[in-house]
Amino acid sequence: MTGERAKHGARHVAIIMDGNGRWAKKRRLPRAIGHQRGVEAVRSVARAARTMGLDALTLYAFSTENWSRPEDEVSALMGLLKHFIQSDLEEFVRDNVRLKMIGEWRALAPDLVALIDNALERTAANTGCTLAVALNYGSQDEIARAAAKAAAKGEVSVQTIEAELDTAGLPPLDLLIRTSGEVRLSNFLLWQAAYAEMIFTDVLWPDFGPDNLAEALAEFAQRERRYGGR
Ligand code: IPE
Ligand code: IPE
Ligand code: MG
Repeated sequence: MTGERAKHGARHVAIIMDGNGRWAKKRRLPRAIGHQRGVEAVRSVARAARTMGLDALTLYAFSTENWSRPEDEVSALMGLLKHFIQSDLEEFVRDNVRLKMIGEWRALAPDLVALIDNALERTAANTGCTLAVALNYGSQDEIARAAAKAAAKGEVSVQTIEAELDTAGLPPLDLLIRTSGEVRLSNFLLWQAAYAEMIFTDVLWPDFGPDNLAEALAEFAQRERRYGGR
């Protein structure tokens, strides 16, 4: 399916996976359990993205602002990420999924960076769906870094900045989804969202599954995109 447009017309979907904490709170469970269930949602939605014919799925896993959370929550999140890469890498290799990272993930703990480097290398030649994980990601930081690189090369323009963004090489963003009822971007893909369609749903991330993705893609297919034209 990759390379040719699926019936819904979307090639690149991004998700702000929000609401793990509230999901846990509703059940009087620790927040870490909410994050754990969030990883299960990642797994099923990433599989669905592939079978639904997306070329790229970008997931907001950890923001540059999330460092302000309590240390135990940050380390629980990093631990889950580590475990996720370890447990799912072989599936990505097998299913032709190309892993990509966006954000300042190289500033994370050396063991995590090494694990990620290996996963990127193992899936680099894959030609199916790209799963891009935004890790230690902030869009303002990304744009500033890209502009600085463009300037260093001698020309600052929309095209030269875009070519230096962490998302360079991914298809243009078609649809941005945020779960949990919050209606804001929280420093995610500010540049890339210029003409993306947006869907905000009240569903909490651990409850978000393939049916919700299918529903969002069906809604996307109904949208009329104008890009400023008429
Ligand atoms: C999203 O869930 C996961 C991350 C930000 C890493 P939250 O932890 O933000 O959940 P809420 O917003 O408190 O419900
Ligand atoms: C956005 O969610 C970041 C991720 C999903 C990784 P937050 O929960 O951090 O966003 P705010 O603080 O509610 O804006
Ligand atoms: Mg949140």
